[in-house]
Amino acid sequence: MKISLVSAAAAELNVDALAVPVATGQRLSGAALELDRALGGVLSEMVVNAEFRGRIHEVLPIPAQGKIGPRRVILYGLGAPHDLDGQRMRSAHHELVRASRTWGYKRMAVLRGDPLGMDSLKAVVEGCVMGTFERRSRQTGAAPERREIDEVVLAGFGAGREREVVAAQENGEATNRAREWQNAPPNELTPDALAQEATRIAQRHNMEIEVLGPSELKAGGYNLLLGVGSGSAKPPRLIRVRHHGNHTEGASAKAGAKTLALIGKGITFDSGGISLKEPDKMSRMKDDMSGAAAVLSAIDVIASRKLPLDVMAVVAAAENMPGPSAQRPGDVLVSADGKTVEIVNTDAEGRLVLADALTHALRNGATHLVDLATLTGAATIAIGHGASAATSNDDEFWSLVDHASREAGDRAWRLPMYADYRILLRSQIADLRNSEYGEAGTIMGGMFIAEFVGGKPWAHIDIAASAWNTNDELTTILRGPSGAGTRLCIELAELMAGAER
Ligand code: BES
Ligand code: MN
Ligand code: ZN
Repeated sequence: MKISLVSAAAAELNVDALAVPVATGQRLSGAALELDRALGGVLSEMVVNAEFRGRIHEVLPIPAQGKIGPRRVILYGLGAPHDLDGQRMRSAHHELVRASRTWGYKRMAVLRGDPLGMDSLKAVVEGCVMGTFERRSRQTGAAPERREIDEVVLAGFGAGREREVVAAQENGEATNRAREWQNAPPNELTPDALAQEATRIAQRHNMEIEVLGPSELKAGGYNLLLGVGSGSAKPPRLIRVRHHGNHTEGASAKAGAKTLALIGKGITFDSGGISLKEPDKMSRMKDDMSGAAAVLSAIDVIASRKLPLDVMAVVAAAENMPGPSAQRPGDVLVSADGKTVEIVNTDAEGRLVLADALTHALRNGATHLVDLATLTGAATIAIGHGASAATSNDDEFWSLVDHASREAGDRAWRLPMYADYRILLRSQIADLRNSEYGEAGTIMGGMFIAEFVGGKPWAHIDIAASAWNTNDELTTILRGPSGAGTRLCIELAELMAGAER
């Protein structure tokens, strides 16, 4: 889908449809009002009569009957202005494009209409691109006829903003790539296949890549990752891709330069292991690599933009399966950084593989850590599908991550880490236990991982709920795979690179 900026008046555009945003409780104004006059007042009539209310995800096509250049006008809702944030803005445009595709429009225009005076260009473009997402089907037989939009032109957004459009388009496409990986069947997207995807990305941008298999993992002492992978016939992989952005050709890195590590949970299938899940809880567990999908998609964009910041993506890839060599509840393992961990529940595997991945990032010079993981079912209980649940050990770093999350329209909400709860991580036999069977599950997952951050600023983003909305009633939250965390990571790298410049 091509996206371009135009300066021509909206009524003169030669497009199949011109989309006009409307917020609830607001009257048409500016260019929308001019258009309304050209159409003999039909748009304001719909709004005044409350036939179109401007609710989020409300999308209504209206024939223009030859009165203006566009063949149709589409009214689409943004919801109430005071409810509008970056995520809802993207969701509104996602729905606009999704609906417009079904109506067969090839060329469409979107009219700027920023309630609250926000600059919506980025959100509009990202939302529209995300609206083109279609899960790749593996069905045999004739493919259903696909209607796709060829071009979106943006009217009224100002001139000379082509680079912003291109960047936003890349962000939307990166999100969709993560969504595609999330949706891939677990027999296709194995730990090794994830490593191959990472290799392709690294080669595309000439990035440094390292993939550790079982023998290297043993040598490096990554026993927690090995333990989680031990029940599977598909061996685990510890993947590290590095973008060098801190120094220009020949020159050495600036003193005190930052290195951001984006660490993704890459469990390609989570059966629970010996602590086996029930079938209905297991059926979705192909997306337990959503964190990996986000960080790999993000570093692809970060490298292609040549951001002046060192960034590494670290993916802990494994399949959590029961089997004759699987780890057992009661096992005690020595992590890569030397702490002993009692495995109480083999289904709390995410924190184990992440602990070793964090150690790996620190060994490779990370100064700032962000991990993304479908870590706890409790995240859905705590916060629901509308946002990721976060924990952090550093207020200053968190405020940067929070800023990135808002800018990216990729919600993350921080939960507290009370020192009082640390006692729940204690084991009778080892330094730590991996599960506590109790309250505050999402916080406890974060607090376990916090034991492995080596005193560095760190944020943990639990995307268990936000990565895949399964609640049919939550209609304005992205359904199915969402690519949660992808744009947050890109934005965070942008912000940190901006500060380095
Ligand atoms: N991958 C799951 C978490 C999950 C649950 C993601 C539902 C998406 C939807 C994780 O490995 C897990 O099994 N967590 C356990 C932790 C518990 C044993 C402490 C959970 O949430 O039950
Ligand atoms: Mn699990
Ligand atoms: Zn898991």
